Amino acid sequence: MAKERIVLAYSGGLDTSVIVKWLQEKYDYDIVVMTANVGQGETELAGLEEKAIKTGATRVFIEDLREELVKDYIFPMVQAGAVYEGKYLLGTAIARPVIGKKLVETAEKVGATAVAHGATGKGNDQVRFEFAVKALNPYLKIIAPWREWDLKSRSDCMDYACQHNIPVPVTAEKPYSIDRNIWHISFEGGILEDPDREPDHDMFRLTVAPEDAPEQPEEVAISFERGIPYAINGKKFGPVELVEELNCIAGKHGVGRVDLVENRLLGMKSRGIYETPGGTLLAFAHRELEQYTLDRETYHYKEVLALKYAELIYYGLWFTPLREALDGFIQKTQETVCGTIKTKLYKGNINVSGRKSLHTLYHPEMVTFEADELFNQKDAEGFINLYGLPLTIKGILELQKKKLLREVSSS
Ligand code: ARG
Repeated sequence: MAKERIVLAYSGGLDTSVIVKWLQEKYDYDIVVMTANVGQGETELAGLEEKAIKTGATRVFIEDLREELVKDYIFPMVQAGAVYEGKYLLGTAIARPVIGKKLVETAEKVGATAVAHGATGKGNDQVRFEFAVKALNPYLKIIAPWREWDLKSRSDCMDYACQHNIPVPVTAEKPYSIDRNIWHISFEGGILEDPDREPDHDMFRLTVAPEDAPEQPEEVAISFERGIPYAINGKKFGPVELVEELNCIAGKHGVGRVDLVENRLLGMKSRGIYETPGGTLLAFAHRELEQYTLDRETYHYKEVLALKYAELIYYGLWFTPLREALDGFIQKTQETVCGTIKTKLYKGNINVSGRKSLHTLYHPEMVTFEADELFNQKDAEGFINLYGLPLTIKGILELQKKKLLREVSSS
């Protein structure tokens, strides 16, 4: 009988290399690997195919998912205004569903009965991968070696690799766990586990330290159509190039660093450092444009839903009816989110320096401190009387009650 086939989400790092060997030994699977190019960079992708085959994979798929990730996942997230726990721009979380989807598609293409991933048993990523698989093809068996084998640490993995002639990265041991894609880079673990300790100056890859940023501010104008960014300083860009360009500009000015103790889905808190330069700038400009174009109640309601949307991405619930329903609302709100926001970047900060939109609801004559024809200030009196009526009623009754109590106690 032919061997059963499994598709492994493969990064080419030590862990997934060890997994290839381990799957062969433990399960005798025919192993196909799938590497998603989500913008982790050339060095991580170099030599992958050869390495995977050497380690024992029979087929290798390298899939460029950058465009899909930015267009179908990241931009809707920006439109939603989703930020987890006030700080995390969800760079890792948003990439997992698209990788999970490709994993399922690859499994179906090669007739595999199972999929595997290298996420550990403590993190959020295992949940996100597996929710995607369950939603898209619940018949696929899921194998998560980190939850099964008895390798406990990175050095256990190293030993396993040496014993099995798996090429071990020659680079010095990384002092933390890193996940990079087009939207962000995250660092966790190792020396960062002490939340009272600042990260090393040389850890960062996408941003300079604000104190080392240029002495001169830089103005950046971002144009949006229906909440989707399409131009920088008047020049049009495709989705991938736009994010890359904003990463360069914002990173140069030290924009987008976050140090966060966050609540993981499994219940524990973890400390993470993130660099999301372009994303931070985009989120800022998009919010400015919404404040300029959306009516008050829609804007406020959207702020509430943004919390839910962020939680849903963080929890790995992308392929759900709730996410689709929220998208229905969000897409409707974006119809008038068109225009250009000018920003100024300076030493880690972003300020707004100009706004333009045909769809603005800002009416200069309405709000002016100068004389105007539109607004009758006398109307405000009736508004205050009625809107404040509950306060007036409560105030009256409380005074009456006090008076009554005073009379009772003095009689
Ligand atoms: N804590 C972040 C999240 O859950 C980042 C996870 C980073 N993942 C990793 N494999 N290093 O989204």
